[in-house]
Amino acid sequence: MKRITYPLTLAVSMAIPAIAFAELGENTYKQVCAACHSSGVLNAPKVGDKAKWAPLIAEGQVTLTAHGYVGVRGMPAKGGNPNLSIEKFSDAVVYMANKSGGNWKSPDANTLAAINKEIEARKAKLNKKP
Ligand code: HEC
Repeated sequence: MKRITYPLTLAVSMAIPAIAFAELGENTYKQVCAACHSSGVLNAPKVGDKAKWAPLIAEGQVTLTAHGYVGVRGMPAKGGNPNLSIEKFSDAVVYMANKSGGNWKSPDANTLAAINKEIEARKAKLNKKP
């Protein structure tokens, strides 16, 4: 009978990246976003409030992440932290969306490129004075 050794290796190799991503977004969320998004300060969509997040999640990951990063009304650009990278910001959005009924993943290179493109489009639109 053949010995089967792969399931443990497979389980370990699959579990590590999943945990790393979750912690990444969670840390940024706690350090930068929770100040407003855990209590709903200034009418910020509260994490866990599925009714508030449903229409935001429906906007899609690219649009919602880009608009949040640029800033919208009471939401400060980059969550008010000028040094926050788009990768960390994106992961914090994933963390918040998934705590509020979503099922998003840490963006891959293609999704990040699309987010960056939308950021530029959004900035150009906001800078255009009527
Ligand atoms: C100073 C308070 C504050 C902080 C800090 C903050 N937010 Fe917000 N955020 C808001 C408010 C207020 C809104 C609601 C804006 C509106 O729609 O009027 C908002 C909205 C959002 C939205 C929805 C944007 C949209 O298009 O409607 C996202 C996504 C978001 N925040 C992500 C984040 C992330 C990620 C962080 C941390 C990196 C963060 N926020 C930190 C106040 C904050």
